[in-house]
Amino acid sequence: MAIVLGIESTAHTFGIGIVKNGKVVANKRKSYTTESGGIIPIEAAKHHEENKNEIYFEALNEAGIKENEIDVVAFSQGPGLAPCLLEGMRFAKELSKKLKKKIVGVNHCIAHLEIGRSVKAKNSVMLYVSGANTQIIAYASGKYRIFGETLDLGVGNFIDTVARFMGIGFPGGPKIQGLASRSKNYIELPYKVKGMDIAVSGIQTKLRQMIESKKYKKEDLAYSLQETVFAMLVETAERALAHTGKKELLLGGGVACNSRLQEMCKIMCNERIEKTKFFVPDKSLLVDNGAMIAYLGEIMFEKNCNVFSYQQLDKVDIKPRERTDDVLVGWKNK
Ligand code: ATP
Ligand code: FE2
Repeated sequence: MAIVLGIESTAHTFGIGIVKNGKVVANKRKSYTTESGGIIPIEAAKHHEENKNEIYFEALNEAGIKENEIDVVAFSQGPGLAPCLLEGMRFAKELSKKLKKKIVGVNHCIAHLEIGRSVKAKNSVMLYVSGANTQIIAYASGKYRIFGETLDLGVGNFIDTVARFMGIGFPGGPKIQGLASRSKNYIELPYKVKGMDIAVSGIQTKLRQMIESKKYKKEDLAYSLQETVFAMLVETAERALAHTGKKELLLGGGVACNSRLQEMCKIMCNERIEKTKFFVPDKSLLVDNGAMIAYLGEIMFEKNCNVFSYQQLDKVDIKPRERTDDVLVGWKNK
């Protein structure tokens, strides 16, 4: 039982969450945005540097605690953009040193997954769909295994790019969802499922041509994009459920905010002969956030996984390329 502070800084968002005995008591964040174009890592890191103190005190305030009540500091160790990760780690080390508390490094993707426990998912297949990542993950013999993934782009980045072609701004996900809700006119797009993997770059090229031809309504294209790509995701997720024999599907990552994707997952789970439960955490826990880092930080701290004292901070570093299946999930078995 502890009070854990979690720091998220892998990409565009700087977030601080606080978890007290397994309950999220604060979740504050601020995101770096651009008018056009993608994320510039150095600029995003600067954004984090400039906002960290404000977010930190807001989080303490929301939790109603003083900083000396924090028992452990958790931070997103990877994967992510190195300059952004460094900002988060520096802040975590500063706090660990100042408060003389232990520090724990957390894998960002696994945090997206483990926060599912807060909505009572216990042994699920996870469909993790964010900006950079699109993976179907399930736990088996000591690790979270990737059963399927995108062979090219993350679905969130793909949607954001299509939105940019349409000239409707960033992030594109909510805007595409809004347009899609105003159409029922399906225009066929390439459907690319290869075994347990999917590919979206062909669909992106096709959509670009269709947008440039000016022959199609944005609403119809947005609707067709969602119906096609989400069906690909749902198909591979179902195959993973069949393969693993698990009876829970958990949705995570920013694209999981999409209500049509949630609905399609729900329908698939209800229609399976093997009764399958569907779980999706609250939006504030789906996008990048510090609460999920604190949440997994507490679990790992209690099982002494990847925990270092404030006198061993030189042993702690970022892991920009750490993959989900690189991490030894020691906390499940101990
Ligand atoms: P990663 O977890 O891979 O580091 P990230 O940090 O980019 O990725 P998130 O904050 O989890 O990701 O998600 C951001 C993505 O979610 C963006 O691409 C955004 O367009 C998408 N998104 C947000 N809301 C919706 C929605 N309603 N429909 C579809 N996509 C959405
Ligand atoms: Fe994320």
